[in-house]
Amino acid sequence: MADRQARVLVTGGSGYTGQFLAQKLQLSCKVGFTHHSSSPPDLGSCQAFWVDLKDGSGLAECLEAMQPLAAIINTAAITSPAICEKYPEKARKVNVPTHLLKALGTYERQHGHSPLLIHVSTDLVYDGSQAHWSESDPCRPINVYGCTKRDAELAIQEAWPHHVILRSSIIYGPNSPQPVSRRLFLQFVDGALTDGPPTSFFNDEWRSPIFVFDICRIAEALLQLEAAGQKLAPEHRLLNMGGPERLSRLDMARLVASHWHRSPDNIRSASAASMTDRGVASPPDVSMDSGLLQRVLGIETTSFGNALEKMQAATDQGSPKSSRHAGRSSIDPDSHRLGSPPERMGARVLNPRQSARMREVSCDMGHRSSGEGSPLTPHRSK
Ligand SMILES: NC(=O)c1ccc[n+]([C@@H]2O[C@H](COP(=O)([O-])OP(=O)(O)OC[C@H]3O[C@@H](n4cnc5c(N)ncnc54)[C@H](OP(=O)(O)O)[C@@H]3O)[C@@H](O)[C@H]2O)c1
Repeated sequence: MADRQARVLVTGGSGYTGQFLAQKLQLSCKVGFTHHSSSPPDLGSCQAFWVDLKDGSGLAECLEAMQPLAAIINTAAITSPAICEKYPEKARKVNVPTHLLKALGTYERQHGHSPLLIHVSTDLVYDGSQAHWSESDPCRPINVYGCTKRDAELAIQEAWPHHVILRSSIIYGPNSPQPVSRRLFLQFVDGALTDGPPTSFFNDEWRSPIFVFDICRIAEALLQLEAAGQKLAPEHRLLNMGGPERLSRLDMARLVASHWHRSPDNIRSASAASMTDRGVASPPDVSMDSGLLQRVLGIETTSFGNALEKMQAATDQGSPKSSRHAGRSSIDPDSHRLGSPPERMGARVLNPRQSARMREVSCDMGHRSSGEGSPLTPHRSK
């Protein structure tokens, strides 16, 4: 367990990953989290702070209130590649944490210590031209989102030596305690398999999806090292953070069907390469080799199928009524009670009307703000 007294700030705590991190870490640390345009989620004992990374508003006050700060986990970003493409200036201001680094510098001068900065980056810093990317491979992002995330890595490496950069693959898991304003991978697939017309999933874009609870374990391990005064060697401060498999969207949809005992009849195979004008360039293969992270932290990431099984077990064990009334996720993977109320986690327990509604909402959000973790750029057959 990390030091009980350690204070940790999760930026982007109103986002998908940030909510799980804050909720999990509060069991062992004093946790603060930031939000921006969303209202702050109810995350137990965690303290909420409003900030704007674009201009640094609220950051100094937040760091001051959290001192002595052991670590910051920076998950805040504009995560939709389409939105980044449309508003590149804004994307750069948020995704490259210039103001956060400045505020940290001031904090360090005032308080005489440097918190660990754990920064969540992306596999989209790679150009997609090969499989199983390793950390030493060249970064040649092919869209604005990837460029801003790569520039963030460089800015952090330059300005803040006490850091760890985690290059995440697509992040999946149950619903977050408070819904986020974009479609989520599993929830979309599950809805698509329930009823309605067939859905096409790309068979030629590969990633190494990572279970959100593995990210929590990785953060905990890093905080434990920090509490023990152990610093990572410089060559271990940039780590790929993916699951153990190289999977296409089609593979993932088929796995959801088989592990959640759903009919695969609605699944159609489609080629991303054959699609023109997707609005934003998407690298074909950003599957990663995350062996370095596993060796450095001694953590094995969960296979996609195992994660689906755990989520199903959580649904089967959970009491929908009490979950619904609790209004927040249970996050202890060992208890197998993961995530939000089962009726929102999987359409398997939704009735067809509810499922159809979920998909409608998902598709609608896809047009406006599909995030990086968004499923598939899927399309429904007419
Ligand atoms: N999701 C994935 O599959 C995936 C894959 C690879 C890498 N990543 C990386 O992992 C991290 C977490 O991703 P996620 O999908 O969990 O994120 P998310 O759900 O899209 O949440 C993004 C967070 O950033 C905050 N934010 C946006 N603009 C802000 C601003 N101007 N000032 C302060 N905060 C701002 C949002 O706050 P409000 O909502 O309150 O505005 C929200 O809390 C990101 O850094 C992303 O690049 C994600």
